[in-house]
Amino acid sequence: MPRANKHQPRLPKIAIAILAAGKGTRLKSKHPKVLHEVGGKTLLAHVIAAATKVVPASDVFAIIGHEADRVRSAVAASSIGFVLQQEQRGTGHALMVAREALAPYDRVIVLYGDAPLITSQTIERLRDFHLSKKAAMTILTARLENPAGYGRIVRKKATGDDVKAIVEQKNLTAAQQKIHEVNSGFYAFEAKPLFGHIDKLSAGNHHGEFYLTDMAAILTQAKQRVVAVQARDAHEVLGGNTRAELSEIDQYMRTAKCRQLMDQGVTILYPETCVIDSDVEVGPDTVIEPSVQLRGSTRVGSDTRIGSYSVILSCEIGDEVLVQTGCVLEHSVIRARASLGPYSHLRPGCEVCEDAHIGNFVELKKTRVGKGSKANHLTYLGDTEVGEKVNVGAGTITCNYDGVSKHKTIIEDGVFVGSDSILIAPVRIGKGAYVAAATTVTEDVPPDSLALGRARQIVKEGWAKAKREKAKAQKAK
Ligand code: UD1
Ligand code: MG
Repeated sequence: MPRANKHQPRLPKIAIAILAAGKGTRLKSKHPKVLHEVGGKTLLAHVIAAATKVVPASDVFAIIGHEADRVRSAVAASSIGFVLQQEQRGTGHALMVAREALAPYDRVIVLYGDAPLITSQTIERLRDFHLSKKAAMTILTARLENPAGYGRIVRKKATGDDVKAIVEQKNLTAAQQKIHEVNSGFYAFEAKPLFGHIDKLSAGNHHGEFYLTDMAAILTQAKQRVVAVQARDAHEVLGGNTRAELSEIDQYMRTAKCRQLMDQGVTILYPETCVIDSDVEVGPDTVIEPSVQLRGSTRVGSDTRIGSYSVILSCEIGDEVLVQTGCVLEHSVIRARASLGPYSHLRPGCEVCEDAHIGNFVELKKTRVGKGSKANHLTYLGDTEVGEKVNVGAGTITCNYDGVSKHKTIIEDGVFVGSDSILIAPVRIGKGAYVAAATTVTEDVPPDSLALGRARQIVKEGWAKAKREKAKAQKAK
């Protein structure tokens, strides 16, 4: 494709500014507002995810202030830029502070770090509308049943695109109170008129703040075009200012997530009881039972079943896996056709291979269980390598910790570990060996041998009967 030449207009350079400097007083929290979570991610991370689908991360700037260092390090991995707004003197002031970073761009889109339901599609719609109308400022609006608290949009004509002003709640006339179209606080600006006129903002209002909303009237008076476009889904503009609002947004997000998965062929029983984070992926024909949590970056394959009350954090689960009721699985990999639970606990760093079975009250930590192996009851395996087709009997325990360091246990292919065995690491049980029930294994067991280490049984015939008779005789005295 030929590159743009001087006869073709070049594509505008667009920056996205995310206002995220506020404290969030109404949350009554020691954590900064934008680091509160909904849908399993911080508010700010959701907004960054949407923004970076529209422009490269290097063109996204978060305006941070309250607890700036914490906010910066929480989202550092996204490699966006940051601008420090030391003192928060209003939404207009936030852009004044960011002038140096943003002025080199042709257009600036403004989003809020506490409004996480915004989608990349809506940002693109705002951008495209803004460019097609050749406007200096385009406001994303929403129609709300209850517009109280929001700035209202005063259009020049009821049916036209052009806007005269944004009027904040406190300054509404009686007639303006009836307006249901509200300011989302998201805008697209042409950078030149924005920064050419931004110094006209004054802090002579109720709060002594520089309101970005005043730019609508300032630009209109300067004969610049200001237009508005309404969001298709009013939810997208909701902000999390209170715990109740955070919970509403969280619920909205999770309901939408369940819908999306169901549309992709996943069966979810009683979806309103399930907690599924936004980044989770699930394959078709998988069944998710009631009250399941799938969190973090969990990926589940097809034809798998996840039992009720299971909590799964950032795991990779294959196809045709059965996770029965009440499993807690963290940062682990479960391969195809494996079966877990009820009540299995996989701590971080485990791999359960194809066709393996991990049963009730079995805890694994940093342990790999090979193909077709079984640990079905009441077992702890830590720092252990289990080969293929191994049977680990009920109540087997690895002693992987000597009070100072952790040590490895290796159980090679085809081993049979009898019930109630204690494997004191470091130790290796060779291929095809047997460990007799209730053995304490302290030394390596060679392949194909039997390890037997328990006290020899003594039987005293008639002992119990004699004891009973003696007791009876004493009572009769
Ligand atoms: C703003 C709009 C209002 C709109 C509403 C939508 C103004 C004056 N009003 O009101 O018309 O209906 O949003 O939610 O803009 N922030 C900074 N630095 C500051 C001040 C704020 O980064 O100095 C950030 C806040 O952290 C927040 C966002 O900007 O994420 C909005 O600020 P906020 O004070 O909540 O504005 P609203 O009063 O809600
Ligand atoms: Mg607000």
